[in-house]
Amino acid sequence: MTKTVYVLNGPNLNLLGKRQPEIYGYETLADVETLCADTAEDLGLATTFHQSNHEGEIVEAIHAARDEAAAIVINPAAYTHTSVAILDALNAFEGPVIEVHISNVHKRESFRHHSYVSLRADAVIAGCGTQGYALALTRVATLLED
Ligand code: DQA
Repeated sequence: MTKTVYVLNGPNLNLLGKRQPEIYGYETLADVETLCADTAEDLGLATTFHQSNHEGEIVEAIHAARDEAAAIVINPAAYTHTSVAILDALNAFEGPVIEVHISNVHKRESFRHHSYVSLRADAVIAGCGTQGYALALTRVATLLED
């Protein structure tokens, strides 16, 4: 059976393509969703794609992933740097977790250098633009094969 990967996106990523394009580029979240679906198909995987501006909704999506997904790719956006609740939810998920950031957070303000999610993530991809999502799915495919 085809394995499903949840691709979760945090606050303000609905504005991708319009929001600070000098940092995040001109591709939209719809473009990222298509990239993820196409990449997953090439890898023999399926994706379920979500974005929310609300911390609790992201926590609930992670809970749903416990029954429905083999792995999670997550760009928690600003919640990366603040959310113990998202870390706790990810700690209750058993499969691979890959953290993605479109920008290189380590080149930016110091408050972006700390990630709660990195305490759980099996890998972190930052600064590769939206290609980071495709790289994350490629890594997920390898981890699910092992
Ligand atoms: C981000 C980086 C975060 O610091 C920021 O709050 C975001 C997006 C990224 O994809 O580069 O909203 O996660």
